[in-house]
Amino acid sequence: MERTFLMIKPDGVRRGLIGSIIARFEAKGFKMIAGKLMIISDELVKKHYYEHEGKPYYHDLTTFMTSGPVFAMVWEGEDIIKLARFMMGSTDPEKATPGTIRGDYATRMNRNVIHGSDSPENASREINLFFNEDECVRL
Ligand code: TYD
Ligand code: MG
Repeated sequence: MERTFLMIKPDGVRRGLIGSIIARFEAKGFKMIAGKLMIISDELVKKHYYEHEGKPYYHDLTTFMTSGPVFAMVWEGEDIIKLARFMMGSTDPEKATPGTIRGDYATRMNRNVIHGSDSPENASREINLFFNEDECVRL
């Protein structure tokens, strides 16, 4: 069993997509073990996206991510890190296949609705940034 960190970004929350997105992961057979609506601080967004510091899109990315509430979650399932990334689709919604979350709900790279961890190392790092272990339900 593997854990990943998923987060509905401010555009997804603003557009009322929390329920539709959660339904997809539930239908797949994955289990949410923690979830909360929150506004990310400047300090937290810097830690979360530290790998992107210095990139041309970094300022827009961090400003956008702190612009309104996000829905942060921990999910559990077999091979979930890779499979959740498949379900999200390409980072650039113009390249994301219809049927994926970004393919169905987004049109722009900088407003692509959802974040998902890309490796076991980042999953555990990101889960620990957003949640305490006692916030995760034991299934
Ligand atoms: P990245 O980690 O490459 O994508 P993913 O979210 O699929 O893991 O980039 C993080 C976020 O940064 C991405 O979701 C949207 C934003 N971004 C841009 O706005 N422009 C870009 O050219 C890239 C690469 C990312
Ligand atoms: Mg990434």
